[in-house]
Amino acid sequence: MMLDDVGAIQAIDRHDTRRVLAEFPAQCRRACQLRAAPALAVDRPRVVVMAGMGGSAAGADLLAACAAETVDVPVLVHRGYGLPAAAGPGALVIASSYSGDTAEVLSAVQVALARRVPAVVITSGGALGTLAGEHGLPRVMLPPGLMPRMALGYLVFPALGALAGGGVPVATDDDVAEALQVVADQAADLVPEVVTDKNEGKRLALAIDRRLPAVYGGPLTATAAYRWKTDLEENAKRLAVAGAVPEMNHNEIEIWRGPGAGELHAMLLREEGEAPEIARRFSLMRELLGAGPGGVSEAWARGRSRLARLLSLLYLGQWVSYYAAMLSDTDPWPVPMLTEVKQRLGAADRGRRSP
Ligand code: F6R
Repeated sequence: MMLDDVGAIQAIDRHDTRRVLAEFPAQCRRACQLRAAPALAVDRPRVVVMAGMGGSAAGADLLAACAAETVDVPVLVHRGYGLPAAAGPGALVIASSYSGDTAEVLSAVQVALARRVPAVVITSGGALGTLAGEHGLPRVMLPPGLMPRMALGYLVFPALGALAGGGVPVATDDDVAEALQVVADQAADLVPEVVTDKNEGKRLALAIDRRLPAVYGGPLTATAAYRWKTDLEENAKRLAVAGAVPEMNHNEIEIWRGPGAGELHAMLLREEGEAPEIARRFSLMRELLGAGPGGVSEAWARGRSRLARLLSLLYLGQWVSYYAAMLSDTDPWPVPMLTEVKQRLGAADRGRRSP
């Protein structure tokens, strides 16, 4: 079994991604200590807009899903240039870019400054760190050196603190303690040294095999499905799709008896205590999709709180995409096309600005 050959894994994983993933619980604990400076001074906002792209938006998605259950302040995730009209008087903007050099997030903060909307910045530096410093914006400085998508803990917990500081508490101290414990327990079970029989990450990557993963979540886990898709794409360099139940029952379900169904593998992201109408839909999907040649797997969230449940699913997805990369003989760390796009657009922008 290739996935149980730690030497073979080391040869493919040339950037030691496995160490970064194994240290994720410690990253989360360190992230809990980080605070914005200067401190955020706002009253409870009318709306929170969380701006970010790619890996730096994943923490925002997770927190928006937590907020949807706990607070009556809308928490919107904004991916793109500028800011939506909702980011006006009475709003709070939380802008996250791990590198600090993402054009879309820089433009979001520039719009916040122009509209005089309070903004908090979460970054390891770059142009965003400088911009925040120049304008005295509350800024959480993250340790550099990670791939943004592997800095998930640094992108979740400081943003959680910023929300609480702004009067929008989306998780309790107990929820945070539980989430830290859950990922610590998971890490022990998911590292390459744990053999396939006992390692859920390896087992699910093998279940997907060479097929295209279609990851489906319920109303509260669909956000994790999207992150599984992007992790599979960035780490394993393989296309994946993500969808939400019940919506996919009204359209995408049709492909599962279509001509390409054998080339797909369904991954259902589940949680204890799902609403009965959602649980019934998942059972039916298992029956219908599992009867096809592509097959179906399930992954269950761990923990009690929304924070722990979503973090546990995201962490499991990181390892599944890691083992999928190993099976494709692919180093999960570098993202050369993404980097080239940024470099070429950056060069074009600098060219436009020069006289
Ligand atoms: C790379 C990654 C990307 C980046 C995205 C935005 O590891 O995950 O999805 O997160 O290109 O860059 P940052 O996060 O630096 O703003």
